[in-house]
Amino acid sequence: MQFRDHHDKTRYVNRMFGRIASRYDWGNRVLSLGRDQSWRRRAVDMLDPTPDHWVLDVGAGTGDLSLYLARRAGAVVALDFSQRMMGIGVGKAATSGVQDRVCFVAADALRLPFADDSFDGTAVAFTIRNFVSLDDGLAEIHRVLRPGGRLVCLEFTRPPSSLLNWLYQPYLKYLVPLIGGGISGDRDAYRYLAASINAFPVAEELAGAMRDAGFMKVEWRYLNMATVAIHVTHKDASPVPQPQAGTPS
Ligand SMILES: C[S@@+](CC[C@H](N)C(=O)[O-])C[C@H]1O[C@@H](n2cnc3c(N)ncnc32)[C@H](O)[C@@H]1O
Repeated sequence: MQFRDHHDKTRYVNRMFGRIASRYDWGNRVLSLGRDQSWRRRAVDMLDPTPDHWVLDVGAGTGDLSLYLARRAGAVVALDFSQRMMGIGVGKAATSGVQDRVCFVAADALRLPFADDSFDGTAVAFTIRNFVSLDDGLAEIHRVLRPGGRLVCLEFTRPPSSLLNWLYQPYLKYLVPLIGGGISGDRDAYRYLAASINAFPVAEELAGAMRDAGFMKVEWRYLNMATVAIHVTHKDASPVPQPQAGTPS
């Protein structure tokens, strides 16, 4: 899938999620054979938020991850640039009774409207792959995370085993657009999903990008026959050394 420039991809992704918003959750349940919510719960366990934590959910969409986070964190900021996806999330938060602890914010994840070191933890599920610049997105997440704060990233990946990857490709190429398109009425959106998984760095490369953005001790674990990965890492807690007065620079 080709995009003219960053603006073209941003507009495509935003409109595409707007189109499929009402069927998005249902598509996830069917395509993952009912497992996607357990992956989100695992990601929340790895973030391990506590009632005094402010947590940012980047690309919160219809709010599934935010709702799990809200059961454990003090407050969750659910950020997304698709109003339609978030509109569904607002309704779900009210139905779940966590609306007091989840605040939905419409913004671009590549220009987060928050001060440096604002959050105790950040979580991002199935979103980072859609960024027009992975490095810029990671830099923004790093900036708003407080020193010592944790990032958990749940994302599709490709199995490191070439045999498993070979078996995975027909699922991506044929079944994902067929099933996802059948549920949402938008086959193009699920062709984009398959193409974006193949275009995205594999788990080890994503770990490298996180280290380049300044994150420490990046670890990951595979789920679902290594087609999904959860990365966990944190921002360095040690203070940045300031030059002493009179020290030559
Ligand atoms: C695949 S959905 C994931 C939603 C949710 N995190 C989940 O677990 O189901 C990706 C979401 O990221 C949002 N998104 C993608 N790029 C974004 C960006 N640059 N800024 C804000 N939201 C973005 C989309 O609008 C969409 O709602």
